[in-house]
Amino acid sequence: MSLVLEPGTRLVVATHNPGKARELAEILEGRFTLVAAGELGLPEPEETEATFVGNAMLKARAAADASGLIALADDSGLSVTALGGAPSVYSARWAGPGKDFGVAMEKVRARLEETGATDMSAWFTSALAVAWPEGPAVVVEGRVDGTLTFPPRGDLGFGYDPIFIPEGHDLTFGEMAPRTKDGMSHRARAFVKLKAALL
Ligand code: IMP
Repeated sequence: MSLVLEPGTRLVVATHNPGKARELAEILEGRFTLVAAGELGLPEPEETEATFVGNAMLKARAAADASGLIALADDSGLSVTALGGAPSVYSARWAGPGKDFGVAMEKVRARLEETGATDMSAWFTSALAVAWPEGPAVVVEGRVDGTLTFPPRGDLGFGYDPIFIPEGHDLTFGEMAPRTKDGMSHRARAFVKLKAALL
């Protein structure tokens, strides 16, 4: 088996997060035929690993083995320097069962206030994994550094985008046009590495 992704390959995208699915589709620019895990009725596995790489692998492996298709999974999140890297792999969980990122962003603000920290630096990480059904898997990681700002600004993007200003810019990800974010995001940077490995 060759670890090459031919253009037009049918790939199952192992995410149930519509914001991430849309960004992945944009980043992949029509290279592949994408099928959503939800469309195939695949269950969402529990993210039990302690790292982005571990969770991306777990999701890609589960989707590939259950669907018989090559699977692509992203595991990503925000890390805040003054919070020792939190929320990290718990980024989605900080939003609670209602997946309310207003709540999650407020939690970040409150925790920073509690620590009295002045360091507002943070970064997003994306691990992208590709797994072949009952076969091998490849995983890469991309990162974008920036600073946090409160209150949140902008209603574009998703998740923690409204509090994150990428390095060298003045707008938050929540204020940026999707194409601008996609040019510099952790997900796009991970994809550059994936392309080098597989395309
Ligand atoms: P998971 O990878 O599905 O566990 O979820 C990661 C969580 O991290 C998402 O629900 C978002 O809240 C957050 N996250 C990941 N990537 C981004 C991004 O590009 N912008 C804002 N938040 C993000």
